[in-house]
Amino acid sequence: MLVTAAGTMRTLGYTAQVEKILEEHGIPYKVFEEVESNPSTATVELGVKLAREQGCDLIIGLGGGSAIDAAKAIASSAGLGIPILDLMREGMSKKGLPCIAVPTTAGTGAEVTHISVLTIKESKRKDGLRSPYNFPSVAIVDPSLTLGLPSYITAYTGIDALTHAVEAYTARAANPVSDLYARKAIILIKQYLRRAVFYGNDLEARKGMALASNLAGIAIAHAGTGAAHGIGMTVGGICNAEHGVVVGLALPTVIRFNLGTNLEKYKDVAELLGEETHGLSLRRAAMLAAEAVEALLADLNLPRRLGDIGVTEDLIPELMADTKTQRVWLNNSRLATDEEKEKLFRALL
Ligand SMILES: [Fe+2]
Repeated sequence: MLVTAAGTMRTLGYTAQVEKILEEHGIPYKVFEEVESNPSTATVELGVKLAREQGCDLIIGLGGGSAIDAAKAIASSAGLGIPILDLMREGMSKKGLPCIAVPTTAGTGAEVTHISVLTIKESKRKDGLRSPYNFPSVAIVDPSLTLGLPSYITAYTGIDALTHAVEAYTARAANPVSDLYARKAIILIKQYLRRAVFYGNDLEARKGMALASNLAGIAIAHAGTGAAHGIGMTVGGICNAEHGVVVGLALPTVIRFNLGTNLEKYKDVAELLGEETHGLSLRRAAMLAAEAVEALLADLNLPRRLGDIGVTEDLIPELMADTKTQRVWLNNSRLATDEEKEKLFRALL
């Protein structure tokens, strides 16, 4: 079963391209093109129903992080015959159906992570299916599939990759292996993200970003993310905002909040993003990491505040209530109290 979103995937001819390959090889298939942005557990349930009715034995996820996360979840739930909400609550003890992930954006790294982020519509919450058995079996990363991506989506998905790399690099669970992936991803993003946004047909830049996204995905599969993703999960669930937009606008403020936990590493981030730190104090050099991200957001014309995407002060109690369920805060290098979390939200309004 081919799992994808309707609209762009059809218009760009990507869905037809996969259908053609399957037909040429005589492989019977069903297309499930119902995946929305911030996919819901209800959508996954629909996909699981179709996969089981049709006896599908392989799931292909084609698209951005939403399509791939949904495909992974459908593969797991349909293969095991266990409802998605139960899997999210109780985890998995073995693998479901095999899943082939084909990303058409460069940012989420969903093709190499074990997490499917899903929105539970009834409670307006984002939660994840997290299991080592939820990794796709195969990832096909073809940068030419990102050539048709509009500049705004290129920008916010690319910033998601940067946020993955910076958060994984400074997370509590960071380790020397994840650090290697995160550092290389930051270098590639510095080198290629502006190019990919400003001139979408630049294949070398698209290739650099596809690799950066993939490496940053591997980094978070090892080390997890942090507070910017805590904010992203909460705001994404309640306001249905684009994930990359939220985590990106939160990142500079989160870096400043976390700064004292590891000045050396934030200095590294500043340097990897091209900042000149020679002769500066360690603290001043580390601070440049936040400034470099702000400059990138400004260059890419991305929103800088939660207010820009419609989040208003009256939502703060609802946002704060949701943060209690987002475990990713525990992986942030600085353990935030409720008061500090609220301050972060207010600082971002
Ligand atoms: Fe992300």
